[in-house]
Amino acid sequence: MYGIVNKAIEELVTEKFGAEVWNAVKVKSGIKVDFFLSNEAYDDEVTYQLANAASSVLGVELKEVLNLFGEWWIMHTCKEKYGAMMNAGGSSLRAFILNLPRFHDRAFLMYPKLAPPEFKTVEVSEQQILLHYYSNREGLQEFVRGLLQGLSQFFNDPVTIEMVESRLNNNHHEIYKISWV
Ligand code: HEM
Repeated sequence: MYGIVNKAIEELVTEKFGAEVWNAVKVKSGIKVDFFLSNEAYDDEVTYQLANAASSVLGVELKEVLNLFGEWWIMHTCKEKYGAMMNAGGSSLRAFILNLPRFHDRAFLMYPKLAPPEFKTVEVSEQQILLHYYSNREGLQEFVRGLLQGLSQFFNDPVTIEMVESRLNNNHHEIYKISWV
């Protein structure tokens, strides 16, 4: 994944837990990179190793790290660095989610080698959307949940998020039920 992702993990750990904890995470991950370049494509393994090392150093489950990272990605990385793209994505949570299938199209200009996820949406009712998530990458279910939680915070619009299908249960892909109650 592009370095911007690894950099965001670094920022999350440093700002929430301090520079020493980040150093410990880097040592634990075994990654010999002094700093990440946003526009350079790194092996996906680098990102997974950082997330696993953070889980081990912080003593929390990997899925908690991924969840926290999803929220951080929206509320810090996207909000602070990609304000225009976020505004273009939709003016409400509902509109933004319905536009998600085309969201990363704009990111290709900055990141030409991007391998983004694929999304499809089904409008069940005024109160409910099903979001289908497809990716060749494994294990990011809780990252996606965190992203959706982050978007709910970004728009200050509370929702419940339930993963109703998953590759973890032998489904072909993940489906999240997003409900306004
Ligand atoms: C301005 C905001 C955003 C930018 C610049 C951006 C860019 C990126 C980049 C660079 C990657 C790494 C993939 C690679 O390097 O090949 C990525 C991955 C990903 N993005 Fe975004 N993204 C943004 C917002 C979002 C939003 C709002 C969502 C959904 C709620 C989202 C969902 C994901 C997911 C799930 C992945 C993991 C890749 C996978 O599942 O295969 N992103 N994005």
